[in-house]
Amino acid sequence: MSETRIGLLGYGTVGSAVHRLLGEGGEAIARVTGGPVTVSAALVRDPAHRPSAPAGLLTTDFARLRDDPEISVVAEVMGGIEPTRTHLLELMAAGKSIVSANKQLLARHGEELFTAAESHGVQLRFEASVCAAIPVVKVLRESLIVSGVHRIDGIVNGTTNFILTRMVAAGASYQDALREAQALGYAEADPTEDVTGADAAAKIAILASIAFHTRVRTDEVNHVGIDGLDLEDVTHAAELGYQVKLIASAMRVDGSVVARVHPCLLDGDHPLASVQGAFNAVMLRGRSIREVILEGPGAGGEETATAVIGDLLAVIGTSGTGFLQHDGYYRELHRLPLEELRSPFYLRFTVDDEPGVLAQVAKALADESVSVARVVQHDGEGVHIVILTHTAREGSVRAAAGAVSRLGFSRSAPVVLPVLERSS
Ligand code: NAP
Ligand code: HSE
Repeated sequence: MSETRIGLLGYGTVGSAVHRLLGEGGEAIARVTGGPVTVSAALVRDPAHRPSAPAGLLTTDFARLRDDPEISVVAEVMGGIEPTRTHLLELMAAGKSIVSANKQLLARHGEELFTAAESHGVQLRFEASVCAAIPVVKVLRESLIVSGVHRIDGIVNGTTNFILTRMVAAGASYQDALREAQALGYAEADPTEDVTGADAAAKIAILASIAFHTRVRTDEVNHVGIDGLDLEDVTHAAELGYQVKLIASAMRVDGSVVARVHPCLLDGDHPLASVQGAFNAVMLRGRSIREVILEGPGAGGEETATAVIGDLLAVIGTSGTGFLQHDGYYRELHRLPLEELRSPFYLRFTVDDEPGVLAQVAKALADESVSVARVVQHDGEGVHIVILTHTAREGSVRAAAGAVSRLGFSRSAPVVLPVLERSS
């Protein structure tokens, strides 16, 4: 496959990250697609806003993208309703497929845009419009079609979850937390959309439409944001063991659907209660799947760019005799031996209750450079010495455990279990 040339509408937080990741991931992309994916031009309002962009890339002339026959796909990462809607209609009429991160546009004008895509025989993909890096659109559209999803509950706005987390965990003021979210590139150009729940309303309308196979319009979604939330209620709720989160929900009850966005109290045990910062999570419930939870970064330039690029490659891979219709391109990689994996370990030795046993166990571990974090002894029929190690090489831990098992006081084979850490 030869080079694929694409265009960008927008070169802000997301657009510039798409350009950078296409460059950084060029080798992997070429290995998969068989050729490079390069950006021909990026539309902006004023190139002076983006001084670090490569010379000649930015343009204020939309026709440069629309009329370039070499550009086969355009990623829309500029946001807004107009002129974005008109641009997309013109691009599709010119035979170009579209990848969009624009939830408001899709939730309001999806019907018109998808009809245009169909009539021009091009693709319109929109993974990045909901929950940034989490592939929830793909899962609902491709993996869970017959699963009978009847309920969706999610934290689908990164900015508001970031603000709530900063207010509760760090005592930040609402305004300071919002400013921080804007500086980190999480918030919409107009952050009112985030804090009033309008952004989440568009996202749940998109998810409900896919899951329930019916068009749920964003103006049907009753939404209340966090802008009217009093921190005192967040504190009172915490005293009762609850977390306050901005929850977007959609339900299918018999033949009816309903969707809403509202600050809700979540019991401490609820899976969505532990979602912190700009992370999002979507809980899908259905007859056949019972419960599936998808969690990950829900905002941010680079995080969103991964979804945009995933869609770009899906378009390229399913156009003509695209690579996704064939076996992937594989490479040979060295296999890492299990002994070289590193983590903390739980060890349990069943031993005779004799003086000096603990010292010999400690020596066997020290001989293999395994450092002990905690030791607990349980007396009984054969003494249990339970040890938690610091991070260690698996081969060394198993060698030390083997050495202990060969000592005369060992009553049975040691138990060796790795500890899976969140950061590993
Ligand atoms: P942004 O940083 O404000 O960038 C917007 C870009 O579009 C800028 O380059 C801007 O030009 C250009 N632009 C805007 N209006 C234009 C117009 N009328 N004509 C020409 N160019 C125009 O926004 P962003 O955060 O990257 O978000 C872009 C889209 O991605 C939005 O739909 C947003 O909802 C969506 N999204 C964002 C995130 C996130 O975390 N940021 C996550 C998921 C989805 P200038 O360079 O001249 O200003
Ligand atoms: N402003 C949005 C959010 C960006 O904070 O979730 C991701 O769609």
